[in-house]
Amino acid sequence: SLIRKSGRTIGVIIPNMNNPFFSRVLLGIETEAIKQDYVPLIFGSNNSQSQETHYLFESVRRAADGMIIASAVSDINYIDNILNQNGIPYILIDQAPVVKGDRVDANNQKGGALLADYLIKNGHTDVAVVCATKPTLNLQERLAGFVETYKNNGTPIPEDRIITTEMTKKGGYAATKAALATKPTAIFGINDEVAIGVYRGLEEAGLKIPSDISVVGYDDIDLGEYISPKLTTVHQPAFEMGTNAAQMIIKRIEDHNEPIQQVSLPVSLVERDSVRAIN
Ligand code: RIB
Repeated sequence: SLIRKSGRTIGVIIPNMNNPFFSRVLLGIETEAIKQDYVPLIFGSNNSQSQETHYLFESVRRAADGMIIASAVSDINYIDNILNQNGIPYILIDQAPVVKGDRVDANNQKGGALLADYLIKNGHTDVAVVCATKPTLNLQERLAGFVETYKNNGTPIPEDRIITTEMTKKGGYAATKAALATKPTAIFGINDEVAIGVYRGLEEAGLKIPSDISVVGYDDIDLGEYISPKLTTVHQPAFEMGTNAAQMIIKRIEDHNEPIQQVSLPVSLVERDSVRAIN
């Protein structure tokens, strides 16, 4: 028979299917799951809490053996209850809140600081940031690392230089005018999608990157190497976040008594062509 006792399925909830960062995470999950003879059930919550809850129940109904949750679950206690009641272990990654339990993320504070150091080294003390209107924890940490580094340099970023928008290319594009109004020499798009939107906004404003203005992003999605100029960014090990999360949830499925597993992966600066030294 093709039917077996455990479906060997892992429910996966991600916030945004449209962001290539999450495609890399999924590829990592899939690669590891297949290796270990598990099948991922993938759901995109489209940043919506009700979708997220709906898919959570669907995963329970379909008897998932474990869950990987990458979305910014707003009520973790509620989710914890549902999954616990049904004996389904879960691991939180990236945007998900930090609680006592299994977790994979990357060092966002460090990533923000790396970018700030690099911009400061290149003479950019007047910098604008394009960030999310409701930043998730990972974005808050990223921003904090960036902002603190500028503060420690004696060149704090005035609050009006932090522009908030939707976390998409469109959001970055729409925020460019407001960012330019603060007369920065460089703009930090809080992820590559936003930075790519800013590229388009700058082009329409008749500005050239990096001779007129510098831009940096965050994530290192592959598109960054194919736009002009190539985008300077921070590499997040998205694929490895996926493989680690899958390994850890499978371990947990197979042994519920495994001690708490928490991994924070390193990030690195990827220096390309979108920043000009102005000092
Ligand atoms: O909110 C989306 C962002 O969070 C991604 O682009 C990636 O940076 C993740 O950490």
